Amino acid sequence: MEILGIDIGGSGIKGALVNTESGEITTERFRIDTPRPATPKAVIKTIKNIANHFDYMGPIGVGFPGIVVDGVILSAVNIHAGWVNYNGAKAISDATGCPVTIKNDADVAGLAEMAFGAGRGMQGIVMIFTLGTGIGSVMFNYGCNVPNLELGHLYMPGHKQDAEFYAADRARKAENLSWKEWGKRLNEYFQYIEFLFSPQVIILGGGVSKKHDKFLKYIRTRAQVLPAQLRNHAGIVGAAMSAIG
Ligand code: BGC
Repeated sequence: MEILGIDIGGSGIKGALVNTESGEITTERFRIDTPRPATPKAVIKTIKNIANHFDYMGPIGVGFPGIVVDGVILSAVNIHAGWVNYNGAKAISDATGCPVTIKNDADVAGLAEMAFGAGRGMQGIVMIFTLGTGIGSVMFNYGCNVPNLELGHLYMPGHKQDAEFYAADRARKAENLSWKEWGKRLNEYFQYIEFLFSPQVIILGGGVSKKHDKFLKYIRTRAQVLPAQLRNHAGIVGAAMSAIG
């Protein structure tokens, strides 16, 4: 089935049609800069433009960078406070005339990476992190996950701010960190994650994962650390997959 998947990110909103059986994107990815401020109204208008671009009518799956429960947004740290307690599924559905499923961006990216990417066929505890504006997190235990994990917001010992402000790709760019400096921060974060959760495998996604040879070597965990295979397509593919249940 071909479904429109949309990934709402801190810097861009991206969409493409996805073959949900093969996990392949069947069109060019269409990207529009995230409007500023990224209010629900402005973002929904952008989503409508993406659906129009593909001349699409059908189920839409959306990945959102915050906590989402039953289509309602419960946090929006890197986007706009106007989303909190907002029924995103209903509003996007009203605007596009399409049935809409909306879930946390990392949860949907994890779904795609487990089905079609680096996590395919993996058993045991697999954790997937997306490194971008924030840190998205998802954990699978024998293929099952508990949604809305929010491990980008934990405080590491001795730190006075959320881990994602220290270790997300945005911190690397904003503080002009070298790969080594950033890699050491990631090492600190993932060693703490390992202490808390003891995963067998850690998969790292987000756009920066295509440069994994520059920073993966600094992460020294017992868990195997692998780059995501779907990279920044995982959000779109997983969003589309979540729209079919
Ligand atoms: C949000 C998460 C999201 C992650 C990646 C965090 O700031 O709280 O819900 O998955 O960023 O976008």
